[in-house]
Amino acid sequence: MYNPFSLEGKTILVTGASSGIGRAAAIECSKMGATVVITGRNKERLDETYLQLHGEGHIQLVADLKEEESISYIIDNVPVLDGCVNNAGITVTLPTSFINKDALNNVLQVNTISPILLTQSLVKNKKIKNGGSIVFTCSTSGVYNAVVGNAIYSASKGAINGFMKNAALDLAAKNIRVNAVSPGMIHTNILESGIISEEQLKEDMKKYPLKRYGEPEEVAYAMIYLLSDASKWITGSNLLIDGGLTLL
Ligand SMILES: NC(=O)c1ccc[n+]([C@@H]2O[C@H](COP(=O)([O-])OP(=O)(O)OC[C@H]3O[C@@H](n4cnc5c(N)ncnc54)[C@H](OP(=O)(O)O)[C@@H]3O)[C@@H](O)[C@H]2O)c1
Repeated sequence: MYNPFSLEGKTILVTGASSGIGRAAAIECSKMGATVVITGRNKERLDETYLQLHGEGHIQLVADLKEEESISYIIDNVPVLDGCVNNAGITVTLPTSFINKDALNNVLQVNTISPILLTQSLVKNKKIKNGGSIVFTCSTSGVYNAVVGNAIYSASKGAINGFMKNAALDLAAKNIRVNAVSPGMIHTNILESGIISEEQLKEDMKKYPLKRYGEPEEVAYAMIYLLSDASKWITGSNLLIDGGLTLL
């Protein structure tokens, strides 16, 4: 059947696949025909994702992206890829005057340094095919807007957005495309941690023109587009997925 959005025959690496957006991305990519390589720190949660994948031949790699040797471990164990979703990420809420070096290092290591080093290693080791596609999970925060207490997180995502654009330019000669998605608030573990009360969430949702937060699958669909041949003339773009929030 004609489908330019199909991922049939493609192999896609998804980081942060043990939860939330990464889990949805891995599952939805597999439903679109891809073989996926999933990574995350937590083996149990990664197993839960693995069990929900469609089709066969998928690979799981338990790796902590804070450890530099994890990058070599992933490189040594991934087949040649058609796509990579650099999605693993963490957040911290600290007003600017309370920022400290540990918190800064922690968030930048996972959200910025590791995805950059992983991308560099994948390309250097010829693990991304000619015609391949790399997608970063950015955020509205740090790219399109700002949120109180979110300075470190915003810095990490703003930096990845800058890297994405330059890498798109550098890798165009190899016919490798590099893009990003920037979600607004999405229903994942972040919201279920209890830090933000039910009431606060309801109030916050009203700020969205579409009057709700997004679902992980709604981000995954945008990733699928950027991974598929349907987007083969798109590179260096950051796709906003925010229910209209940043229109205001
Ligand atoms: N949810 C939102 O509202 C939202 C909005 C905009 C952007 N984002 C971005 O979307 C991405 C996914 O977030 P999410 O909402 O899906 O969060 P999540 O449910 O908390 O998932 C985060 C994922 O990142 C992985 N991870 C964290 N630290 C890691 C490390 N040191 N090494 C390897 N993997 C690590 C986690 O693995 P473990 O399970 O092993 O801990 C998990 O798979 C992040 O980059 C986040 O910044 C989220």
